Order: sequence, then structure tokens, then C-alpha cells
Amino acid sequence: MNPDMGTSLEEILQGLCETQKTISSKYFYDEHGSELFMEITRQPEYYLTRTEIGLLRHYADEITQEIGEDCLLIEYGSGSSEKIRILLENLRPMAYVPLDISKEYLAAAAGALALEFPWLEVHATCLDFTDDFRLPFTMDAKRVAFFPGSSIGNFGRTETGEFLGRVRRLVGQGGGMLIGVDLKKDPALLNAAYNDANGITESFNLNILNHLNEKFDADFDVSEFEHLAEYEADRGCVAMYLRSRANQEVDIAGTQIKFSAGERIHTENSHKYFADEFIDMARDAGFSEHKLWTDADEWFGVFYLS
Ligand code: AVI
Repeated sequence: MNPDMGTSLEEILQGLCETQKTISSKYFYDEHGSELFMEITRQPEYYLTRTEIGLLRHYADEITQEIGEDCLLIEYGSGSSEKIRILLENLRPMAYVPLDISKEYLAAAAGALALEFPWLEVHATCLDFTDDFRLPFTMDAKRVAFFPGSSIGNFGRTETGEFLGRVRRLVGQGGGMLIGVDLKKDPALLNAAYNDANGITESFNLNILNHLNEKFDADFDVSEFEHLAEYEADRGCVAMYLRSRANQEVDIAGTQIKFSAGERIHTENSHKYFADEFIDMARDAGFSEHKLWTDADEWFGVFYLS
């Protein structure tokens, strides 16, 4: 067993032994889970991705004016570097630094980007951006962090404040951050976005159990769990759970975990913010200025914090 596997098995068992059973949302993203997430972003109810892309396209000039050319552009959790493509021709950064934890994925995405934009200097950097880190090189340019997709919503509120503070320290005086944030809205729209009619979010949520079956030789019967996602107004987040359909026992690498009928495993929080609420958090983290671009319905916000 490799050390990483040991730590994660321990983490899984610990989460499933708590009073509120939990599996970290990072286990959604095995290969199939990543494909399902891409499919979620194409569902009519999941407005987040298309609204953000629309804003980046529509306001590319204004965003560039705000940021200025020749920055060192650092993307947190760059994945396939899809959204940054919208801004690159306008923004003409001095260099682009995609940060991602998956080495192979990062290398492939950075290679493809370098081919598509031959003038662009790309410094692919493999690390876990939720840790404190330093860039492994120096460059005399304004640093700008890019964190799209409302991925910030998957952090807890305290974690969000701490994360914004770390980004603020990394970009330094005069630096900035371009970030996509899903805004608070009618709960019916939020509930629909996480309960799409085609059942893709349901499959995405349930797939976390398949992932544990494969990774830890567990024996979850996926058909014995059901998908639940609901906006919890008091916490300002859509919480996702898997609910056990029956009393059952599951074996995970030799440890038995009991579930009673109706018991829930928490799998994800997706926090939503009022624009002012988010601006206050950014201010507390040391960003004193902001600019906000939003759609006509004010469903999604792209903020430039500086
Ligand atoms: C990746 N993250 C921003 C998505 C979200 O909306 O919280 C993950 C997701 N979970 C269910 N649908 C999409």
C-alpha cells in the first residue's frame, strides 16, 4: 500500500465513523466522476458554467483593462485550462502558471495549450493549491490568480477566508485575483441545478461509492443508496448526501461500517454568496478593491479582487 493510499483510507474510515457520516468531495473525481462533472456542466439546469463563460466572453476587454497586460497568470486547479482560453488573446500574460494536483492531466493540458498559443510561456506546476506554497520560480511581473467555476463554494466558510488570505499573500502588493462565485438566488433554481432531470448529478454523487469500491476494495451496493441535494438557507449552501435505503453493513478494506435505513452520508457543500458578503470576506483577507461582473439575472459573479 502506498503512503497516500494509507492516509486516504484512514481519512475515509474516520469520516464514516463520525456521527454525521462524511466522504470528502475530492473522491468524486476519479476518471468517470470527472466525465460526469463535465456532463453536469452541460445540463440545462446547471446554469453556473455557461453563465460564467458568457461573462468571461462578454467582458473580456473590461477584465483585461482591469488586470492589465503582461501579468503572471496563476490558475488554481487548472484542469483542462478551458476557461482561460477565453481570456488569453486579450490578456496576453507574460506567463501562465497552471496549478494542478494531477501530474499527467496537467502535463497534457499545458502541452495542448502551448501548441494552441505558441507565443505563451507556460509553467505547469504540480501541487496541492489548498496547501501553503511558493512558486518554484521568480518573475518580475504582477501576479494574478485565476479561480473560476465557483470552486470556492466547495470550501467551508472559514476555509474560504483562509484560502483568500493565502492567495492575497501569494499575489503580494499590487497583485490580484479573478474569481467566479455562484450567487444566492431562488432556492428552487439551486435545487434544480443539483437535481437535474437527466439524473447526471445523481450519478455523479453515487459514483463516489464506486470509486471507494475500486480504490479501497469496499463493497458498497450503490443501488442501496439514493441521491439527495438541497439548499440549506441557514448555512447558505447546497448540501449533497447519499441516503441509505435500508439497514446495511458495508466492508471497507476489512472494516465493517453500519448504516441504518434513512441515514445520510454527507458528500459535498456548495456555498452560495451575496455579492456583498463575498466582498466583505475578500476585504477581511486583505483585498481592498474589487470589480464585479454579473449576468442580467445576477445568478453568477466574476470578481476581480485587488
Ligand atoms: C466543482 N463544483 C464547483 C461543483 C459545484 O457546483 O459545487 C461540483 C458539483 N456538485 C454537484 N454538481 C456540481
